[in-house]
Amino acid sequence: MSNSDFVTAFAPASIGNLAVGFDMLGLSIAGAGDRVSARKTKGQGVVIKEVRGMDGEIHPYLSGNSDENTASLAARSLWDAAGDGAGIELIVYKGVPLQSGMGSSAASAVAAAFAVNALLDESLPVEELLVHALAGEKFASGGLHADNVAPSLIGGLVLCPQVLLPQMISLPVPDGVSSVLLHPELQVNTAESRNRLAKGYTTDLWLAQQGYLAGFIAACAQNNVALMAECLKDVIIEPQRAESVPCFRAVQEAALKSGALGCSLSGSGPSIFALCLDNDAANLAVVMEQASRKMGYQCQSWISPLNAPGARMVD
Ligand code: HSE
Repeated sequence: MSNSDFVTAFAPASIGNLAVGFDMLGLSIAGAGDRVSARKTKGQGVVIKEVRGMDGEIHPYLSGNSDENTASLAARSLWDAAGDGAGIELIVYKGVPLQSGMGSSAASAVAAAFAVNALLDESLPVEELLVHALAGEKFASGGLHADNVAPSLIGGLVLCPQVLLPQMISLPVPDGVSSVLLHPELQVNTAESRNRLAKGYTTDLWLAQQGYLAGFIAACAQNNVALMAECLKDVIIEPQRAESVPCFRAVQEAALKSGALGCSLSGSGPSIFALCLDNDAANLAVVMEQASRKMGYQCQSWISPLNAPGARMVD
């Protein structure tokens, strides 16, 4: 067997929660993602051959333990369900920073499921890969939420409440709106962050957040950017996580002052996203980066359309 036996898939990074929809709303981004190469072997089961950075060098931190990597767990779930009993070997290329709040574990899981799907005698429809990618993602985050996996898989803005899984509902996106995603050089462990969240909430908070989510979805349907700005808020989860990202409030304030429609943590952080009018995006990225650096955190940012594509096969 040679390297030409490999098929390769790319899956993008994503913004989980999107402020207003904890665990049930997510957005794909352009320009960052993971790649997974897969091939059949004469061995048994799904194993990771190597984990590399996008530069091709062996990844300095991630181990290739196939029982602990979201890529192999997703691939195994799919191959056990639909494979032909051959072995599978994976090479994971990590482009999404670890513990970044950019859907890193989801991108690996989705890319792996997508690549292995191409090795099936009859590939499954993309939507059917969700449960397998989730089997990988669940290991990393300690909870069942599809707000990173779903947009990474099908792209765009996706509503995916746990109670409706495996349904993924693609939402229309308003014209002329972009996302800016800032990654400050910090790490937040999603499972630990989730464990620290309060277990009960008041009816007032619950009503407020439900109202914002309903308004946000209506804004998407009606192409109403003003309503979207009014609703892009998280009154429940963001206040509990803000302190774990020391530059968050400064970046948020800078973004809102510079015309952002809204700004919050991406997933469990440390990444921070803003939605804004297309024309404001470049300036907003600069302003957010400056605020992060002023607080002592080096950073990188990405600007994306709201309909950035999901997973796909690549050369
Ligand atoms: N919805 C998840 C959370 C996303 O906020 O914990 C994790 O990236």
